[in-house]
Amino acid sequence: MKTYLVTGGAGFIGSNFIHYMLEKYGKEIRIINVDALTYAGNLENLKDIEHLDNYTFVKADITDKEAINKIFTENDIDKVVHFAAESHVDRSIRNPEVFVKTNVLGTAVMLNCAKAAWELEDGSFKEGKKFLHVSTDEVYGSLSEPGTYFYETTPYDPHSPYSASKASSDMLVKSYMDTYKFPANITNCSNNYGPYQFPEKLIPLIINNALSGKKLPVYGDGKNVRDWLYVMDHAKAIDMVIEKGKLFETYNVGGHNEKENIEIVEIILETLQEMLSDDDPRKALVTKDLITFVEDRKGHDRRYAIAPDKIKADLGWEPETMFKDGIRLTIQWFFENEEWMKNVTSGDYQKYYNEMYQ
Ligand code: NAD
Ligand code: TYD
Repeated sequence: MKTYLVTGGAGFIGSNFIHYMLEKYGKEIRIINVDALTYAGNLENLKDIEHLDNYTFVKADITDKEAINKIFTENDIDKVVHFAAESHVDRSIRNPEVFVKTNVLGTAVMLNCAKAAWELEDGSFKEGKKFLHVSTDEVYGSLSEPGTYFYETTPYDPHSPYSASKASSDMLVKSYMDTYKFPANITNCSNNYGPYQFPEKLIPLIINNALSGKKLPVYGDGKNVRDWLYVMDHAKAIDMVIEKGKLFETYNVGGHNEKENIEIVEIILETLQEMLSDDDPRKALVTKDLITFVEDRKGHDRRYAIAPDKIKADLGWEPETMFKDGIRLTIQWFFENEEWMKNVTSGDYQKYYNEMYQ
């Protein structure tokens, strides 16, 4: 039975990944989820699986060497899937330090503990071990020319404190691969959307605001482009890289789905109109009048677009969920989980840990 150590598993992508893996492999695998439960970590995301005896939650900070070492010495970890990070660009502009601490120092601690646990006396590593570092396309900077894409060979050119901290963490992983032949892969993925996404990010924020008749803030001219990927397609890519990815390689993961922010907002409004029934009082609130252009983000990257050619050619991965379907699935999930959204926006979700785990 393979044991996965997932960091940041109470966050958006981490919790979707844990669901994906337990659904796919069932009792064949064991998952240990390590999460500090910052504002972005929500154990309610994992409520339906917390009773399973092949799933364990450990509340720990990835910068805490002792706590992380303890997990490695008490368990024979086969795969590390490293999601834990501060992930929101706007927060990084206001408070960069915590991004450096968690994303850079935290990754260094994770690498060191895994290396100590997996290294043999001759400096080689135990068979079958792998560290998958989950990163972002934002490390490549911003594209201006239409028809250009980020490839694995694109030079790093991060602009925000968030992307700079992720670029630094990628470089640390690369340094471990180069120096020690440490068994790792890096994935650089484009913007994700789907269930359990914290409503500070564009898509859940717009869905939530529209349903409450609140203004929909669009930064600048609304023409910045992101390449959106349904989160379960990302989870599948990560599983494939763990299983089949060649050690020391980087894989770009992207949706082939570039859209301007204003288009995203308009699609959400149209889809909400289609999905809300005529007798739902929220239907009258959901109009384009809510769109409000606000001051631009500082240093706002203009366009991101991934070329996922390598992961397609080498591993056979492709995005499967069309945006029109993924956005419906996401909106449907938010309809069915109003309580989740209420708890997140009121801050009540943070009480859940104390009630559940004391
Ligand atoms: P998220 O903010 O939703 O979740 C992050 C999780 O990490 C939370 O559960 C939080 O409690 C935990 N965490 C934060 N600091 C920690 C610490 N010091 N110790 C332990 N746990 C800590 O983020 P997400 O959107 O799920 O992103 C997950 C990863 O994927 C990140 O590394 C991010 O850079 C990367 N990524 C995200 C996207 C995206 O569109 N969201 C795209 C590409 C890559
Ligand atoms: P976001 O979801 O924060 O992801 P990232 O900055 O990592 O790409 O933002 C996606 C895009 O949407 C980005 O160009 C900024 C823009 N945006 C808005 O226009 N309004 C908002 O309220 C938010 C949160 C983002």
